[in-house]
Amino acid sequence: MSTQQTNNKKRILSGITPSGNSLHIGNYFGAVKPQLELQNDLTTDTHYFIADLHALTTVHDAAALEKNITGVVLDYLSLGLDPSNSVFFRQSQVMSHTQLAVVLANYVSFGQMKRMHAFKDKLQKNVGVESINMGLFNYPILMAADILIYKPFGVPVGEDQRQHIELARDIAENFNRTYKKDVFPLPEPLISKTIGKIIGTDGKRKMSKSLGNIIGIFEDEAVIRKQIMSCFTDPNRKKATDPGKVEGNPVFLYHDLLNDDLAEVADLKDRYTVGTVGDVEVKEKLFLAHQRMFAQARDRRRNLEQDLNQVKEILKNGADEAAKVADATMKEVYQVLGIENQLN
Ligand code: TYM
Repeated sequence: MSTQQTNNKKRILSGITPSGNSLHIGNYFGAVKPQLELQNDLTTDTHYFIADLHALTTVHDAAALEKNITGVVLDYLSLGLDPSNSVFFRQSQVMSHTQLAVVLANYVSFGQMKRMHAFKDKLQKNVGVESINMGLFNYPILMAADILIYKPFGVPVGEDQRQHIELARDIAENFNRTYKKDVFPLPEPLISKTIGKIIGTDGKRKMSKSLGNIIGIFEDEAVIRKQIMSCFTDPNRKKATDPGKVEGNPVFLYHDLLNDDLAEVADLKDRYTVGTVGDVEVKEKLFLAHQRMFAQARDRRRNLEQDLNQVKEILKNGADEAAKVADATMKEVYQVLGIENQLN
């Protein structure tokens, strides 16, 4: 039963880890926005989830975890996730993700796992290999299970997740080859070339909460303003009258993403290039553009916060719906493995 479809629609799957309690514009433009566009595409059947078990690699405090999960769920819904159009759920509420992860670990080698970026990055930060948390080391296996259990056609994510999807494909191929059966179709990474990697406000590295180089979406206005005002620009420009560089300048990258007033953006770029506008004005206009773009979402979030029971209900219904597909795959997997149990 190898299918990447529901009712003739291409199945799409993606997840987000609640390692913090809110999303930033890197998450939004790199992943959430493309995911929401697919939700509104009539040829796709979208499944999006909160990867709460993945957060255990870093969050070891029950109250903080719950707060993060609720925060990210509210962010997603406020940004436009429509539960009547997408199956929206929490990973831990669909039991077969972890069941499949235990199985898939047997079709990937230690050598393959050692090459994973998340693990290698941790080692570079001078954490001794002996003290690496096994949840972090195994993370890509759970992620492969998250994906393969839905037999999706495509996985919309940012560039930093490409290696994980490639591993999921390798595991699927190995499994299919071992049992001479196309149990798992190979999922396509759906990654934008232009916005798959949003640069941080330091102008150097990928925008990431742990690097402290983010622009948030739902934080207080004073916080967002500060994040924007501290943004790196053209390092060679000392005064507002010096000609500046627009290309690769993060402030202008953000203007291109956030500012709906295209004439204003063109004017700022022209004036920056010849040296007739200061950084402060460019950033001030960026802050106003941010406010315009997210005003509606911020309002929606304030309303949703008042009705957390409704949010819980949405997630429960989503988990029930997701489990139908996931459990059917798990049943098939156990059959192929030669394991008889209550599922089959
Ligand atoms: P996470 O929670 O780190 O990030 C969520 C999504 O946001 C994208 N992203 C970015 N895109 C562009 N520029 C950036 N600066 C940027 N920062 C983050 C990420 O690529 C991602 O798409 N392992 C995943 C969660 C996960 C998952 C899955 C995803 C667990 N199981 C199964 C897909 C399918 C993660 O930690 O993403």
